[in-house]
Amino acid sequence: MGVDVWVRRPGVLAGVWDAQLVAQAADSAPVSAPTARAPVEPDSGDVAALWDNLRTEVRTCTKCALHQTRTQGVLGVGPRRVDWMVIGEAPGAEEDRRGEPFVGRAGHLLDAMLHAIGLNRGTNVYIANVLKSRPPGNRDPKPEEVAACLPYLMRQIALLQPRLMLAVGRIAAQNLLSTDLSLGRLRGKVHHFGELNTPLIVTYHPAYLLRQPADKAKAWEDLKFARSVFRQLTDRVGTDGDLS
Ligand code: URA
Repeated sequence: MGVDVWVRRPGVLAGVWDAQLVAQAADSAPVSAPTARAPVEPDSGDVAALWDNLRTEVRTCTKCALHQTRTQGVLGVGPRRVDWMVIGEAPGAEEDRRGEPFVGRAGHLLDAMLHAIGLNRGTNVYIANVLKSRPPGNRDPKPEEVAACLPYLMRQIALLQPRLMLAVGRIAAQNLLSTDLSLGRLRGKVHHFGELNTPLIVTYHPAYLLRQPADKAKAWEDLKFARSVFRQLTDRVGTDGDLS
């Protein structure tokens, strides 16, 4: 399964995770293997149009000053109907250039992390950011930028209706949960987001993990926690009917 990615790239994935992941390999079945979710309907014309409008609006958005320095707004990547949604902070230089979230070094690590629990942006996880435009020099988002951009994220979430959200990094977690609690205080719990009360779990940002590889072990705990929460959610759907 995806675990080999973590093991194969010792430069990025060195240390305790390698050993743990080798040991855990047998337990790394994809999280989104068949579930009791309603059969996937093909995009209706209306839904496809809503996505297309959203992508165009975001790419050309001028709601905050960031449009003056960014190349393009970056909406997100992944299938339009998924159980998992990952939310980061904001596009970096490479993302700004290519128009896709998490395609730089941190993105490679994020892909490896997701792969280890059976998730892949091409098939079963949608990846987006709180901010759609790159802040110059990758500085932290300003509150007014977040306020201007959040409606786009809300529209994405409304269209996707994910079963589980994973916030990566302090900035994403604090903005989504409207809190100033530290990342350490937010990890290890199931929070809930928005009107749909979508379960939300918090873990480290992959860029942080590149700087602090010793914390990869804790991130792996978070991913396993998220996987087990997801399995419980889908089991409940299977036995008790609709969760909502
Ligand atoms: N960091 C983020 O939070 N998002 C990206 O898309 C890239 C780096």
